[in-house]
Amino acid sequence: MASILIAYDTTEGHTRKIAQYMGDSVSRSGHEAQVVDIRRPPTDFSLDSFDAVLVGASIHLGKHSRQLSGFVSRHKARLATVPTAFFSVSLSAGVEKQKGEASRILEEFLQKVDWSPTIKTIFAGGLLYREYGFLKRWMMKKIARDAGKDTDTSKNHEYTDWQAVDGFVKEFLAQLDQH
Ligand SMILES: Cc1cc2nc3c(=O)[nH]c(=O)nc-3n(C[C@H](O)[C@H](O)[C@H](O)COP(=O)(O)O)c2cc1C
Repeated sequence: MASILIAYDTTEGHTRKIAQYMGDSVSRSGHEAQVVDIRRPPTDFSLDSFDAVLVGASIHLGKHSRQLSGFVSRHKARLATVPTAFFSVSLSAGVEKQKGEASRILEEFLQKVDWSPTIKTIFAGGLLYREYGFLKRWMMKKIARDAGKDTDTSKNHEYTDWQAVDGFVKEFLAQLDQH
């Protein structure tokens, strides 16, 4: 049984939902999972006790957050010695003609922080209109219209392919056996 960390960075909460889903999936497969918000880690948090690390984060305004860069930089030494995975969550990842852009942002981030995770992917996120304030809701509705996504702001919309998430976790767990 391996001890696996799933560390996430979220603004509206969708990446947390994916991270928790992964945590359940990892636990069901007989491993120990700990899901941690990188902005609110437990006291005395250290990566040393984990055998493998999954990191997930969302894209806002064309990039991943400073907090995410800080997390990866702080833990770079440990991340280089265990199997790791990175998943990037965005609206673009769920829009056929914008997937390339989502992958480009992921690659630029990894290059900037000088990290080569064992596996990586992009997942479509959501439009959490109900969590947005007035301005954000207005801006996201406009972006959604241009992207051909939902514009009904009375509810949240989710585009994540949960089967793809299952597949990614499976692929990651297979890495543990090879390590
Ligand atoms: C203010 C704002 C800016 C965003 N900027 C982008 C962007 O530049 N590219 C993109 O693909 N998605 C963008 N999104 C969509 C988010 O990546 C998507 O809603 C994701 O599910 C958010 O995940 P989170 O709730 O974990 O933060 C943006 C969303 C908001 C609210």
